[in-house]
Amino acid sequence: MPLRSSAQKYGSVAIAIHWLTALAIVLMLASGLNAANMPDGAQKLGLLRFHAITGMLVGVLTLLRILWWLVFDKHPGNPPGMPAPQLWAARLVHLGLYVVILVMVSSGFATVILTGANLQLFGNAPLPLPDFSLAPPFTVHGIIARLLIALLVVHIGAALWHQFVRGDRLLARMGLGR
Ligand code: HEM
Repeated sequence: MPLRSSAQKYGSVAIAIHWLTALAIVLMLASGLNAANMPDGAQKLGLLRFHAITGMLVGVLTLLRILWWLVFDKHPGNPPGMPAPQLWAARLVHLGLYVVILVMVSSGFATVILTGANLQLFGNAPLPLPDFSLAPPFTVHGIIARLLIALLVVHIGAALWHQFVRGDRLLARMGLGR
């Protein structure tokens, strides 16, 4: 499969970044929501270490993806016969996903640094963990996480609608099926 996208299909770099990011975000939502409901202790610290390191990966993948589109690749054309309002809605959701992911990563790091938890996550400072809810960026982190979930529901719902209701095999453009 070619590295760059064609007029009909995404290329292998865009497909690899898309599915790696999707997997990492599912893990981020699960680990973040779990950690928030855990009592303080070594297990929570371990989960938050995983959350922070995977979050870094999500940030790097998203910046790489933006660079890839701006410099090296061009998006495939729109699926044929789509009305303009639906094309605008798709563009808006895709842009929203980029922005929301970058806000999640930066508000996560800001929370950790402002509370001093970076010394526990990336060093050997002793427990207990700080009260994250005292850091203003954590309020942003919690609200934007819900917005991210809403955008993902619309994004996945639209992909399934294309595939199974409209029958235009949109998933094959992103490497799923033929
Ligand atoms: C795409 C990226 C990310 C997603 C989807 C995500 C998701 C979440 C979610 C859903 C929560 C629970 C929020 C709540 O209960 O209101 C959470 C908590 C948290 N996140 Fe993230 N996060 C991301 C990136 C990061 C990064 C990069 C860091 C730090 C390096 C981070 C640090 C934290 C911390 C410290 C908590 C608090 C856990 C607790 O309350 O004990 N997050 N995250």
